[in-house]
Amino acid sequence: MAELAEIILDGKSYKFPVITGTENEKAIDISKLRDETGYITYDQGYKNTGATKSEITFLDGENGILHYRGYPIEQLAETSSFLEVVYLLIYGNLPNRAELDSFTNRISKRSLVHEDMKIILDGFPSYAHPMGVLSSLVCSMTAFYPESLNPNPTDEDMDLHIIRLLAKMPTMVSWSYRKSKGMPFNYPKNGLDYCSNFLQMMFAHPTESYHVDPVVSDALNKLLILHADHEQNCSTSTVRIVGSSQASLYGSVSAGINALWGPLHGGANQEVIEMLDEIMASGMSVASFIDKVKKKEVRLMGFGHRVYKNFDPRAKIIKVACDQILNKLGINDPILDVAKALEEAALKDPYFVDRKLYPNVDFYSGIIYRALGIPVNMFTVMFALGRLPGWIAQWKELRANKEPIGRPRQIYTGSVKRDFTVIAKR
Ligand code: SDX
Repeated sequence: MAELAEIILDGKSYKFPVITGTENEKAIDISKLRDETGYITYDQGYKNTGATKSEITFLDGENGILHYRGYPIEQLAETSSFLEVVYLLIYGNLPNRAELDSFTNRISKRSLVHEDMKIILDGFPSYAHPMGVLSSLVCSMTAFYPESLNPNPTDEDMDLHIIRLLAKMPTMVSWSYRKSKGMPFNYPKNGLDYCSNFLQMMFAHPTESYHVDPVVSDALNKLLILHADHEQNCSTSTVRIVGSSQASLYGSVSAGINALWGPLHGGANQEVIEMLDEIMASGMSVASFIDKVKKKEVRLMGFGHRVYKNFDPRAKIIKVACDQILNKLGINDPILDVAKALEEAALKDPYFVDRKLYPNVDFYSGIIYRALGIPVNMFTVMFALGRLPGWIAQWKELRANKEPIGRPRQIYTGSVKRDFTVIAKR
């Protein structure tokens, strides 16, 4: 017999079906609540609200579990390439050799961007934050590829829009960086893998030959995999709700980039490094900084999470990778010691333990980005590069399922005027 939830309102009983997910998550289906009762629910920030059913990513915040299409993140981060994970998220299965070769080839062939993107880049001052530049460049793809505005594309056209965005994102990211530095743009090199190609576009110098360090490329591969999707987080929910109006993929992802930019979301990785640098520059002890956090004078950026009330599994992997990568690169960055000391102090302190505040994906990632030579103001752009396949997969799923336009309700608390005659007197 179907499981039901009963709500008693004004002395009347209403029953609503209970939905059970494949990992035994439970939800009360209130799709008919307002029609049957006149009531709506209230859940500021949607902490208790499921916006959709999805087959893409599962995360268990209490037990620190993260799976992409059923595969544990730990396995994928250790054994897969980023493009294999991109394929898995978007198409639902890990590619075989032939599928991966074809996918890689299709992406390589479309990695160039329209030369007029240089004109857009020229319109930005060199100090423009690269997240603002990137969201503009992604949205400009609706102009260079106006067919992407068709709200009912064929599967073939939809796939072409997806391939174009995956292929051109590394080029747009690297060009926004090169522009900010006043350096000439590097073009994609199709013979290189996705991460190596990105690194050469970012750092190759026109007067010298550039060698991609496999340690750096492997580290980037792992970081991009760890950021690739995270179910209905703020930026992915943004991509979904914009996509639910039948807006284009490029317009929806551009909106997601702007949501990710916020310091409470993807912008935290930049805030963490700035926080650690500030602690070191001020000579403040870790204990003194922790006291400031407990007095709510500052937030411990990179700590806490809307869903994880245990260790963020990505943070665990990145922390181990930090030591490995810095050792392999022969880098001794004292900031890592400060981060570890902060984590150790916080995890022993009841203030953090009681609030279930643990390191999240952003706490250690910036230390690796910095070791890879990526500047701090590009950290959130790197998060966007990693999250792109998740945004695409979730947008594709929403459109395939023909989900309705997103339109939450509200409880009105504004003024109430009954004497409308006042207006008529004017
Ligand atoms: C990401 O959703 C996702 O999946 C996101 C993400 C993804 O992959 O897409 O995982 C990526 O965004 C990770 C989060 C990155 N953000 C930060 O590191 C910024 C710092 N963290 C926070 O501001 C905060 O923890 C949030 C926003 C992440 C979560 O906030 P919640 O769950 O809404 O918690 P809250 O703000 O209601 O805080 C509950 C309590 C409060 O204290 P009290 O009022 O109960 O006394 O915990 C405190 C908060 O003050 N608190 C913190 C804290 N985070 C929460 N105190 C100090 N430092 C912090 N970082």
